[in-house]
Amino acid sequence: MRGLVFLLLLAVSSAKVFERCEWARVLKSHGMDGYQGVSLADWVCLSQWESSYNTRATNTNSNGSTDYGIFQINSYYWCQKSDGSFSHNACNISCNQLLTDDVTAAITCAKRVVRDPNGIRAWMAWISRCENRDLSSYVAGCGV
Ligand SMILES: *[C@@H]1O[C@H](CO)[C@@H](O)[C@H](O)[C@H]1NC(C)=O
Ligand SMILES: *[C@@H]1O[C@H](CO)[C@@H](O)[C@H](O)[C@H]1NC(C)=O
Repeated sequence: MRGLVFLLLLAVSSAKVFERCEWARVLKSHGMDGYQGVSLADWVCLSQWESSYNTRATNTNSNGSTDYGIFQINSYYWCQKSDGSFSHNACNISCNQLLTDDVTAAITCAKRVVRDPNGIRAWMAWISRCENRDLSSYVAGCGV
């Protein structure tokens, strides 16, 4: 019984959904403001549209790959799925590490993604929802 309660607590505590300004401050504290020329507002905007700031978001693509976590990072290129399917695993991590409420691994991996030649354009939601838009509302009132 005690073990079950612990597991339930674990499940609840790892389902972290950030509030917009909270997420903006976490990103800033991890050096994301201006990282590879990407503004804090761009990071907040892409997280909003990729995951609604939900660290446990997962989405399976039609080609069998899966996008993981608050940045919806793709398993084919960046992380290893637990089913053992092929991955370039450029972030050198298990995909499940991108789903925890400690976002350190997810941010480290997002930095790796944005260092690639495609940069921020790796994120389809950034292209469709954030590119060439006024993004000031994403960090408004956050004191960042
Ligand atoms: C699989 O689909 C996703 C989402 O459309 C895409 O980002 C990714 O590049 C695709 N992977 C391959 C290997 O085609
Ligand atoms: C990948 O991560 C493992 C630890 O999880 C580490 O031992 C290994 O050196 C890493 N490989 C690279 C290429 O960074």
